[in-house]
This record gives sequence, structure tokens and C-alpha cells, in this order.
Amino acid sequence: MQQYIKLATFNLANNKQDVTIKVVNSQEATNPYPQIEGDKISFEYTLDKISLESINALCSKIAADVKAHNSGFNLEIDSSLNAELIIESLLLALSDINIFKSSYTEPQTYDVYMSEQLAASYPSAYSRATAYNLTRTLNHLPHSLCNSQTLSESIVELLDDPRFKITINRLSQCQELEMHGVLALSQGSRYEPAVIRVEYSQGSGKRVGLVGKGVMFDSGGYNIKSGDITSMKTDMAGCGAVIGTLKAISSLDLEVNVVAYLMTTDNLINEQAYIPGDIITYSNGVTVEVGNTDAEGRLILADGLLLMEQENCDVVIDIATLTGNSAVALGKSYSPIFSTNDEVTSIFTSLNETSTDKVWPLPIASEYVEFIKGNISDIRNTSSTKNGGSIIAAVFLHHFAPNTNWVHIDMGAMSRKEEFGAPVNGFGVRLLTNFIETYCTKS
Ligand code: BES
Ligand code: ZN
Ligand code: ZN
Repeated sequence: MQQYIKLATFNLANNKQDVTIKVVNSQEATNPYPQIEGDKISFEYTLDKISLESINALCSKIAADVKAHNSGFNLEIDSSLNAELIIESLLLALSDINIFKSSYTEPQTYDVYMSEQLAASYPSAYSRATAYNLTRTLNHLPHSLCNSQTLSESIVELLDDPRFKITINRLSQCQELEMHGVLALSQGSRYEPAVIRVEYSQGSGKRVGLVGKGVMFDSGGYNIKSGDITSMKTDMAGCGAVIGTLKAISSLDLEVNVVAYLMTTDNLINEQAYIPGDIITYSNGVTVEVGNTDAEGRLILADGLLLMEQENCDVVIDIATLTGNSAVALGKSYSPIFSTNDEVTSIFTSLNETSTDKVWPLPIASEYVEFIKGNISDIRNTSSTKNGGSIIAAVFLHHFAPNTNWVHIDMGAMSRKEEFGAPVNGFGVRLLTNFIETYCTKS
């Protein structure tokens, strides 16, 4: 992949700079106005609760002030705040995401003077920013540059670490592995599907499985979407989040065991495309009638979850832009999380306090199984009721992970939130990285 958002960097300076950037919590706030003393100028910013919006607003302001002064700076962050997250976000804010504008400017290296303690958090903040930046880049690229073909050609280079064992399954391997959901979707595309398996085995702890929805463009298929569908190039954001997470765990050198499946294909239309009424028979024997070709994500995740049955994971997590209904259920600040294990759920929700990627549990409601019962098949990919769309999708997926510690994250609502001047972000990278760190190394 040629076009790539370049990331700003810090050069850790030994000498004090003329500009001082001070981030404090609201109790410590003293003066919102810049303090000027001769050549020196000092800015104070406050941060209260951590959210994607508050961190982004803070870092956008800092980036604007730093750029306006076109100089290095002293960075001070109150010890009560998550310095690593602030530095990560600042690196992202100082980088121009708009690579397709002729006004695009390459980011700079800034001389930054920090305390020893703060400087110690820079390398991991930079690693995390690199991972996040990779994900938002993939989400930002149009389908012509980021599709199952280009991704499978560049995944080794993107992950860039020999500790990853990477297997790329194209059409014939998908046939051998009986991935009938992926095969059904890929019929409509000129690109072969790519189901990419990535393994990172370090240390002897728990093993986490990740499955990412990689619908590289979701037109809706023959149940074609109406209105503006340009944003549906980001229907691979679950896959993007998994790639960024893999990047993060390797850059941070985490001693963890992770196996991932990137489920990439398209939901497009041609003469061969799958159509409503088709029946898909999965490798576990479950038959699914296609009630709606736009409920395609669950059809390919089903294959991914079935592949995970062979992987002996302690927990399997899928992440997907699965339903628009996720925004109806929880709004745009929390992603629904569905889990068969309460302990795992509580690890996820406990991470909410210190992260931008917030989740909240919804039930895998057995009462709703009847709504997806098929007339001529076992189940359907659509519901007989219009309510509870996110839960219905989870209930569908549960048929393909019946005996696993399983988590499903529906990031539909979060995927298109604007960040730093473009309608994409890297939701999921922080969430999954923090989870893996906590689950594998601390419990
Ligand atoms: N990719 C969409 C969900 C989506 C919509 C994500 C908007 C982000 C923003 C998914 O494939 C889809 O179309 N879901 C349908 C399901 C319905 C047909 C049962 C939906 O949510 O409307
Ligand atoms: Zn769809
Ligand atoms: Zn979709």
C-alpha cells in the first residue's frame, strides 16, 4: 500500500524549549490564558473525564498551538492523567490525515523536553500511535487502494515482524476450508477473498483469538443500500482494528499469545453475486437462508468463528461494523459488547475508565432465537422483528461459537466518528490491546 498517513515524531530534547504545554486535571487548573514572559510562552490545558471527544479536542488544541509557534516544546502532564494516551493522541493530532488533499503536509519531528518519567512513556506511546495510525490509514483508504487483493499483498510488510506467522487463504483455500459465507459474498466481486490467519505466540500465558469483519466495501448487495454509501469503504474497520492490535502487541513487545483471522471480501453486485433467498450451508452443518444481502457481516464472521474452534483459544473475540442499530441501542459513545463470560466482560468494562474505546454489555438473548428461525433453513440472517438489531446479530453469531468463551463487539456506530479532520478513526485498537495486555499478562 503506497499511500500512508505519516506519523509525527518527538525528538527527546535535553534543553528547555520556549513553548511550554501543560496538561492538568480540572481541579489543578490555574489559568486558561497563555502566559508570556519574554520569549517564553506557556499554555495550560485541562482534561476531565477521558473520552474520544475530550482527548481529541485536547490534542487538537495543543497541535494547533504547537504548529502556530512552529517550535519544539516542553511537555508537562499531571501525574493523575494517562500520559501515554495523551502523548499517543498528540502524535496523531500532529499528523495530517488528509493524504488525498493537495494541501497534505508531511508531519514534523518536534524537539520535546519532558521529565524523565514522562520521557519513559514516550516509546510505548509512539508504538501505540503507530498501530492506531495504521488502522486509521486502512479505514481512510478507498476501496481501489484497500481491498482483499491489496491487503493480502501488503499484510506481511504492514505487520513487519518475523514473529508473526502469516497464512493467506485466497479463493481455492477458502473452498478447501469450506468457508461458505465468505465464498457466497466473494461471488459478487472481481477480487478473490482473502482470509488471513496471523499468529503471534510469545510466552506461555492465555491465548486470545481475534476475528475481524473485513467487508472492504458494503454496497448492501442486491438489497442495495440507499443514500450516501461512500462511508461503506470502512466496513472493514473490524479487520482494521485487529491489524492495528497485532501491530501494537508486536511494537510493545507484549509476551502474549494471539491468533487472528482477517475475514476480507466485498459485498458488491454482479451477475454472480449472492441474492436473497440463497441458502448457505456452513462447515458445522448449520444452514442459513439469506433474508437480506445487506446483513452480510454475520455471514463471514460465522466462518471465522468456526475456524476458531480449531485454535484452542481461552477467549475468542470478534469485532465488526455489524449493525447501524448499535447506534440506536447505545448511542455513539459506547459500543455494544456481547459475552458468554462475565469475568471477561468485567475486564472490558473496567477498561472504560482509562480509554477512549468504551463498551457496554448487551445480552445474547436466548428469547430472540425464535426471531431468526428459518422456514426452509435452520436460521436466517434477518429477524422477523425490527427491534433489537444488534442483539439479533449476536444471537445469530452465537450459533457459530456455541461452546467457546466468546465476545462480540459491534463497532458499527463508532466506525465513522470523525477524528482530526476525517470521518475515520482507529476504534478497537486501544480496546483490544488493553484487553489483551490485562487478560494475558495480569490475570
Ligand atoms: N455494515 C453494515 C452496518 C453499518 C451501518 C455499519 C452503518 C456502520 C454504519 C451492515 O452490514 C448492515 O448493513 N447491517 C444492516 C443489517 C440489517 C439488514 C439486518 C443494518 O444495520 O441495517
Ligand atoms: Zn450490510
Ligand atoms: Zn456491512
